[in-house]
This record gives sequence, C-alpha cells and structure tokens, in this order.
Amino acid sequence: MKKLVVLTGSGVSSESGLKTFRDSGGLWEDYDVMEVASYAGWTKNRDLVLRFYNERRAQLKETMPNEAHTGLVDLEKKFDVSIITQNVDNLHEKAGSRNVLHLHGILTRARSTGDPSLVYDIGYNPIRPGDTCEKGFQLRPDIVWFGEAVPAIEEAASITSHADIFVVIGTSMVVYPAAGLIEYVPKHAPIYLIDPNEVTVPVYRHIHFIREKAGKGVDVLKEILIKESSS
Ligand code: OAD
Repeated sequence: MKKLVVLTGSGVSSESGLKTFRDSGGLWEDYDVMEVASYAGWTKNRDLVLRFYNERRAQLKETMPNEAHTGLVDLEKKFDVSIITQNVDNLHEKAGSRNVLHLHGILTRARSTGDPSLVYDIGYNPIRPGDTCEKGFQLRPDIVWFGEAVPAIEEAASITSHADIFVVIGTSMVVYPAAGLIEYVPKHAPIYLIDPNEVTVPVYRHIHFIREKAGKGVDVLKEILIKESSS
C-alpha cells in the first residue's frame, strides 16, 4: 500500500461549523492571539484563557465530522493514511481515522503547569481556575501556544519523509514549524493542495491545486488517486 500523508489545518473543519483562524470572520478577528494562545497571555489573564478553550471544547462536543474527514477515512481502504493535523479538535478521530498526530495538542486533554509529563483526558469538561494535577499545580489546556516548542514535530517530519503522496488541506501554511514539513516530502511524491483560496506554499515544487472546499476537494482527490492507482 502507498503511504498517503495528509497535513490538515482549520479549513478541514470549516464545513463542520468550526471557525478558521485567519479568514475573514476567523477566530483571530474576535480574539487577540497573544492574549489567549501564548504563555504571556496565560500569566496575564488565566481566566480568560481557560474560558476561551472551555468554550471551544463545549462547542466541539456538539460538532460532527464532515465529508472531508469521512473521505479521508475511506482512503484508508486503498492507502496507508497518516494524518498530521494542526487542529486541536478531534474530528478526524470522531470520523474514524486511525493514524492522527496532533501537532498543536488537543482540546480534550489537560496538562499540569508544574509537570508537563502529567497529562489528563478530560473529554469535553471545562478546566476551572483551581483545578490541579495530583502534585497540586494548576491545569492548563494541552495545547501548544505561540512561542512554545512543538514536541511532535520530529515525528511529523519522519512520517512526511516516508510519504508516497502528500496532501495539504485547509491551512494557510503560515505557522511554523508545521508549514516547513512540506520540505520533508520526498522528491518522487506528488503534492496535492485542497483549499478554496490562494495559498502560497513555502517550497519550490510543483503543486497540484484542487481549488475546492475540503469536502468536495477530498472527493476530487479520491477520484484522482483511485484512477491513478488503477492505471
Ligand atoms: P488559517 O485560518 O490560517 O487558514 C485556514 C485555511 O483554510 C485558509 O487557507 C483558508 O483558505 C482555508 N479554508 C477556509 N475554508 C475552507 C474550507 N471549507 N475547506 C478548505 N479550506 C478552507 O488556519 P490554520 O492554517 O489551520 O495554532 O492555522 C494554523 C495555526 O494557526 C493553528 O493550528 C492555530 C493558529 O494560530 C495554534 O493555535 C497554536
């Protein structure tokens, strides 16, 4: 089976009703990113940060995967699919994808502020001021904030370097190190990009653009890949 590696961003969840970050109407229009997604923001106003992620988590409980997520699950019948996502939602898992790596963490886990090895599954429950780990430290979302290291990036680079086909869906490719993963795609592997808008890709390579929303785009991709694999 060929290895299909898919890098996803917030656009893949847009048709499920979750906001992207930088589009018009995106989350960073309503919130100052440094207030809610940086360690400086956390030390300045912990309650605001907790509230921001508690709202996202509560919304996620009611949110279902869309055709893009389920289309990627279908592709597992023909390909060895690995998904590397920048998203903190769990919609790939809800859809049934088996190999999902979260680069920026996930809403359904909390982490100790005093001992990062202490991570807890919290489902869709809120984290409140005063909620602590067993060592007594305040809990925070298990999410990578701006300025913090991305612990999963080495694993993601290794997965990418084994791709036979690489697909990018619904990301503006402006946040590093995630955007830099494309440099690890082997020369022989074609790169497909699904996005309804123009995206500047930070690599000198031919890119097969599929200028569609994610749901339709994954459908188009499936047709192309299945046709190519049977020719
Ligand atoms: P952006 O908001 O930067 O980009 C969203 C992309 O999705 C854009 O290229 C849109 O054109 C595209 N898009 C919009 N609707 C779509 C649809 N229906 N189908 C397909 N694509 C669509 O979001 P990300 O690239 O995901 O990090 O942002 C990367 C990181 O920046 C996030 O993980 C988050 C954010 O700050 C952290 O919070 C650490």
